[in-house]
Amino acid sequence: MLTQEELDEKGLQATLLTHPLVRHKLTLMRDKDLASASFRMLLREISWLLCFEVTKDLPLEMRAIETPVAPMEAPVLQGKKLAFISILRAGNGLLDGMLDVIPSARVGHVGLYRDPETLQAVEYYYKVPKAMEDRLIIVVDPMLATANSAIAAVERLKQGGAKNMRFVCLISAPEGVKAFNEAHPDVSIVTAAVDTHLNDHGYIVPGLGDAGDRIFGTK
Ligand code: PRP
Ligand code: URA
Repeated sequence: MLTQEELDEKGLQATLLTHPLVRHKLTLMRDKDLASASFRMLLREISWLLCFEVTKDLPLEMRAIETPVAPMEAPVLQGKKLAFISILRAGNGLLDGMLDVIPSARVGHVGLYRDPETLQAVEYYYKVPKAMEDRLIIVVDPMLATANSAIAAVERLKQGGAKNMRFVCLISAPEGVKAFNEAHPDVSIVTAAVDTHLNDHGYIVPGLGDAGDRIFGTK
């Protein structure tokens, strides 16, 4: 796994979440013998921290409230124009936890699968909230491998009007971070790990295998 310093040295633009609880839970998730139910729960828990990280600079405004003791001016989020976009299907494993933290967010879905031969992303579904251009868009998918899926999803969202986007994932490959940075330099990445490399089948090494299969128990 690369450190934030190693990412910076290689010129890879990504924010690494280094919280010890995240690192511990991710280690549990990587174990090939972990049951799907535990995998899903750990992914949900890690996504809470990813959500806090990716939203840490959201603008606030002051509101007058009264506590049981005294009136005060207290900070609240400005507006509610935020949407999560899940890249189906594995993105839904991150989405659930994101919605635990920001239940009022709008939600969109981009259905993409990776052709196993070409590793190119194939779109099969697209449904997003209205007024994409006015919202902060947080795109979620646990795996950034070749980045073909994430690049295609963000491209599609830009065509749909999105202007202000961030991408959140659990594990990335350096190759994917580089490709995504080059394709979408305006979209920042938050990730819990950047592993060593991709294998000949486009899987992240050491990674955790196929995230969708592990979330939904389909293998
Ligand atoms: C996985 C993962 C990403 C993609 C990453 O999805 O959830 O979307 O692969 O690989 P890439 O960076 O090389 O494009 P997959 O295509 O397996 O579909 P699924 O979510 O339906 O399982
Ligand atoms: N998609 C996954 O689910 N895992 C990988 O390692 C690569 C792509």
